[in-house]
Amino acid sequence: MSKVKVYLIVVAVLLLMACQRGQYSSKPPVHLVPDMDHQPKYKPQSASSFFEDGAAMRLPVSGTVPADRLHEDSLFYRGVDQSGKPVRISPLKAAPELIAAGEGRFRIYCSPCHGGRGEGQGTVIKRGFIPPPLLWEQRLIAEGDGYIFDVISRGVRNMPSHAHLVPASDRWAIVAWVRTLQQGGQARQAGQSTPSN
Ligand code: HEC
Repeated sequence: MSKVKVYLIVVAVLLLMACQRGQYSSKPPVHLVPDMDHQPKYKPQSASSFFEDGAAMRLPVSGTVPADRLHEDSLFYRGVDQSGKPVRISPLKAAPELIAAGEGRFRIYCSPCHGGRGEGQGTVIKRGFIPPPLLWEQRLIAEGDGYIFDVISRGVRNMPSHAHLVPASDRWAIVAWVRTLQQGGQARQAGQSTPSN
């Protein structure tokens, strides 16, 4: 057999082998060096006969708090003063950077319902959700920063809580942006020039 023929056969065999690639197989792939990739483990929420309560997942030791969840600062984390009343003024200064951060967060988390300017006509509302009030309603302008923070944190009536989505610092940033929107809304209502957003 000439060298060329041998070469062609080798190439043909390699090509045929390549055809196998991309095909589905029910067998696990060849895993030459398994390291510790495969080992017995429990998946979240699964059962276990090891513990008395039959659950594989353990509860935190009672009376303990995870290191990053010690929220002792009630003003910052709950927006209330020592007597538990919502504060009038935010603990974070309404600097331009904070307001800008709040605008970004508002667009993500609030505008789907409240609309880009707080006019209450976001996409979710257009598709049938209960309409929220105008954010520049006199009653809401009169409320303190702590109240708005609380509404975001815990929700109110038909509005869901956002505490699990938005960290406290971002909630205060949103409060600063809501104040800015309220000024814009009032100005529009008074028939003055419309801001660009
Ligand atoms: C799923 C839609 C939805 C989202 C998202 C949402 N809201 Fe609301 N919001 C509502 C509805 C509905 C109401 C009216 C609740 C009611 O009176 O039943 C409301 C009410 C409010 C009020 C007025 C509370 C009062 O005292 O009447 C404020 C302030 C507010 N929302 C701020 C926010 C901010 C800030 C965000 C973003 C972090 C946000 N909302 C996200 C639906 C939403």
